[in-house]
Amino acid sequence: MSRHAFSFLKPLVSALLISSCATAAQAGDGETIFLNNCAACHGMDAEGIPGVAPMLQNEMLWKTLDERAIDYIAGVVTSGLSGKIQVNGKSFNGVMPPQTHLSSKELAAVTNYVLQKVNRSSVTVDIAHIERARQTPLTYARLYALRTGEITLAQAGKAAAQD
Ligand code: HEC
Repeated sequence: MSRHAFSFLKPLVSALLISSCATAAQAGDGETIFLNNCAACHGMDAEGIPGVAPMLQNEMLWKTLDERAIDYIAGVVTSGLSGKIQVNGKSFNGVMPPQTHLSSKELAAVTNYVLQKVNRSSVTVDIAHIERARQTPLTYARLYALRTGEITLAQAGKAAAQD
């Protein structure tokens, strides 16, 4: 009887184990990618490094951007960002290179790490968002307009196509 019950449970238990491992691996990947590719400029805890790069731990910004956070962060990591930027009263005018050495899957994992783990945001960046952003590289001015909420990625892309 108990053996019978166990053989019924076995596939269920392994399915649960597999799914929890997959979730842990995904979260871990985003963090590892962050530490290896972003932390040198943005700090280990995304707290920013004065004079180098702004904090990414900025719940107010990502909360205000809401769904636009997806387009903005996908745009920054694929196009890079260089120009004047005000982050919580601090001025930056640095150069963030486009992260072309990372795959779309890695960029989705690392941007989700920044949004969800660092900033407790509930929005999700899909690989498709990253690929769409790669196809329409955006200038600093367009990215900044996305950040301040003046335009959407669709509008920015349309404008970029007309350049
Ligand atoms: C070589 C240093 C460097 C690296 C590496 C780097 N960044 Fe940046 N990042 C910057 C700088 C500098 C800025 C600000 C650019 C400016 O002044 O216009 C920035 C800006 C940003 C912003 C915009 C922040 C805001 O408040 O609008 C995001 C998001 C971002 N980086 C994410 C990342 C992620 C994710 C990675 C890793 C995949 C990464 N960066 C790697 C230097 C870097």
